[in-house]
Amino acid sequence: KPRLYSGMQPSSGSLHIGNYIGAIQQWRAMQEEYDAYFSIVDLHAITVPQDPRTLREQVRTVAAQYIAAGIDPSRSCLYVQSHVPAHAQLAWVLSTITGFGEAGRMTQFKDKSARQGADAASVGLFTYPILMAADILLFDAAAVPVGDDQKQHVELTRDLATRFNARYGDTFTVPTPVIQGEAARIYDLQEPTAKMSKSAATDKGLLSLLDEPARLAKKIRSAVTDMEGVVRADRATKPGVTNLLAILSSVSGRSVADLEVEFDGQQYGAFKAAVADAVVAEVEPIRDRALALLDDPAELDRILAANAARASEVAEATLDRAYRAIGLR
Ligand code: TYM
Repeated sequence: KPRLYSGMQPSSGSLHIGNYIGAIQQWRAMQEEYDAYFSIVDLHAITVPQDPRTLREQVRTVAAQYIAAGIDPSRSCLYVQSHVPAHAQLAWVLSTITGFGEAGRMTQFKDKSARQGADAASVGLFTYPILMAADILLFDAAAVPVGDDQKQHVELTRDLATRFNARYGDTFTVPTPVIQGEAARIYDLQEPTAKMSKSAATDKGLLSLLDEPARLAKKIRSAVTDMEGVVRADRATKPGVTNLLAILSSVSGRSVADLEVEFDGQQYGAFKAAVADAVVAEVEPIRDRALALLDDPAELDRILAANAARASEVAEATLDRAYRAIGLR
């Protein structure tokens, strides 16, 4: 089976529907055909300040949501990045073949550091994409399913793999990003031109997998729309309605074109109620399962430890290959 790799930050504990639609839905489908590795990237999370105790809890909370959403930890390898030391080791090696300007062109770094101010932003935030490249290359991943915002990082990974192979001999598999079309980017419900993100100013535009059903419905009812009153997709002039259509399409498995026909002539109120029903139907069982898993943290820790051992074997072998290729060991 070909290898697949993807990961997610534990930054807020609760995943949002953008993570679910942009990433987890694809992961769940792809784990059938791939030898899949999914990490909780706690080393990435500490590129911005974290509270130690909260971070540890958030890692478990995210693991519970992965499993609750259908990632099967007895088939796919679901583990925590910091449990496998090879990530940090390979990241160092890759940093030595990454250009300063090349790293400086990463738009996520530019956005995040602009928000924090150049002096507040850490060097780790700058080298973040190199650690992500190490994640992917350690596992010889052929496919990397991500949301559209991570595409540039996967492209950097491809460049680094190609460069390393050219310089030191064939060592790494060059990965391909797998990005879902319409739903590659889900937007904030209150500000539908900004991507839905844990770092948004308010949580009103964010649909969290751990939100109670009534809260999800309320956020959807208050989503920003427009004055036209017609349910149709048009990213430029109707970002709010277009985003709700993308969400409904992803959780219901129906095309946006079909949905436009179904809601032709209907008011936004009725449309939003249908979106809320569909989102709640999808998210509530995941929330219930995640909360049940969190009742037994020792069992979650056991799963994560067993999977870290599996991941280490693969990662150590690749690291050894890379070290030898450059004249170490
Ligand atoms: P992160 O934690 O920001 O997001 C996890 C996944 O969710 C996707 N995503 C979205 N998709 C659609 N709409 C949105 N609004 C939205 N917000 C987030 C992201 O694209 C991502 O797929 N650097 C990565 C984590 C990472 C990784 C890796 C991914 C570390 N190492 C190796 C793949 C392979 C990140 O911060 O994702």
